[in-house]
Amino acid sequence: MVSLPLPQPFKGIYVFYFMFKLPLQIASLLVYYLPTSLRPMPQWKLRTCVAASFLRSFFDYIEITGDQGAKLPTREKAKDRLALVQPGEAELYSGILASPTIKPAPLIGLWDPNATAQPTADKHRVVLHFPGGGFTYAYDPYESSQGVSQIMKHMRGYRTLFAQNRLATVPNGRFPAAIQDALTFYNHVLRSGVEPQDIVLLGDSAGGNLVMALLRYLETSHKLPLPGAAMLWSPWVNITEDVPRQYAGSRNLGVDYVTTSVLQVGAQKYIPEGGITTDIAPFLSPLQYPFKTNIPIFVHAGTAEVFYDEVQRFVDAMSEIEGNRVKFHPTEFAPHDILLSHALVGFTEQAEVAMKDAADYLHLVST
Ligand SMILES: *[C@@H]1O[C@H](CO)[C@@H](O)[C@H](O)[C@H]1NC(C)=O
Ligand SMILES: *[C@@H]1O[C@H](CO)[C@@H](O)[C@H](O)[C@H]1NC(C)=O
Repeated sequence: MVSLPLPQPFKGIYVFYFMFKLPLQIASLLVYYLPTSLRPMPQWKLRTCVAASFLRSFFDYIEITGDQGAKLPTREKAKDRLALVQPGEAELYSGILASPTIKPAPLIGLWDPNATAQPTADKHRVVLHFPGGGFTYAYDPYESSQGVSQIMKHMRGYRTLFAQNRLATVPNGRFPAAIQDALTFYNHVLRSGVEPQDIVLLGDSAGGNLVMALLRYLETSHKLPLPGAAMLWSPWVNITEDVPRQYAGSRNLGVDYVTTSVLQVGAQKYIPEGGITTDIAPFLSPLQYPFKTNIPIFVHAGTAEVFYDEVQRFVDAMSEIEGNRVKFHPTEFAPHDILLSHALVGFTEQAEVAMKDAADYLHLVST
């Protein structure tokens, strides 16, 4: 039994094999899924089936090679879009965010459009976007922010800050590093002069978990004012130590492109070495520990997701708390995280409809 990620030279051989078989694999999938009866969901387009299957093998590839994805933006390439973000004062990071070994760190974000662009509205408004990637993989920031901005057209007057947190795979990158980073980015935007109510926290997948953790921290620590709203796309709402058993019965396993394996690796890397203690459990599982918040929350999930049932229960649990305002927008037959994957899986139109709904609900449309 070899441990993953593979050491060299096996890794090199595997990468070569993966790249070599890729065109053949895609060609055979295109033929295989032609009859709708063989599709994971008969309602799916050919494109969705092929993309989901491809993404599943890509997740295996990440696990086997230990690939951590894209590099952070550089000044040469990002130019005016670059955001160099310094941690705030030490006292901002208290309670579960204070750790003897894991310290707040400088970060790099990517603005869209650039940092000097004039907002179209009279005020500066910012969508602070925490991307998914299971705490272990960084998506290409340029590509991702382009994909997101494509469906952001209903949120005119907003600029987006793509806020990649430290991965759990780097030294001292475990919990609470990512939540420290979320607070660091939020503090940075506030310090740049944006009014708190003009900030929307947006998180997809693992980023959605992060948004809820940041919001819980803001609600309980009172260190910084609350943002205007939160938007969660396919949030991972129940991070636990027993991922395989948790999702064993999920009816969308093998349909959705998310695998239990990728979730298990993410959870194992992110959960602190001492395991999930009672003080940190709420920051990992907003599903099991719903809380009162004064800001409205928009939640999106696809009905073909492994996460779907948990997201729905999370929405119910949050809505049951008096005073909370939560809006759920499910998209029929959508796989995981169409905020980022819409172009690949062929759900761009549905993602736009959901974003328009979000903008209307959160009163963000500024014309
Ligand atoms: C910054 O973005 C604005 C709006 O998209 C654009 O008009 C301007 O040319 C950009 N500036 C630079 C230096 O790229
Ligand atoms: C969250 O995960 C735990 C552990 O796997 C599981 O027992 C529990 O049922 C899940 N919670 C909900 C409400 O789905």
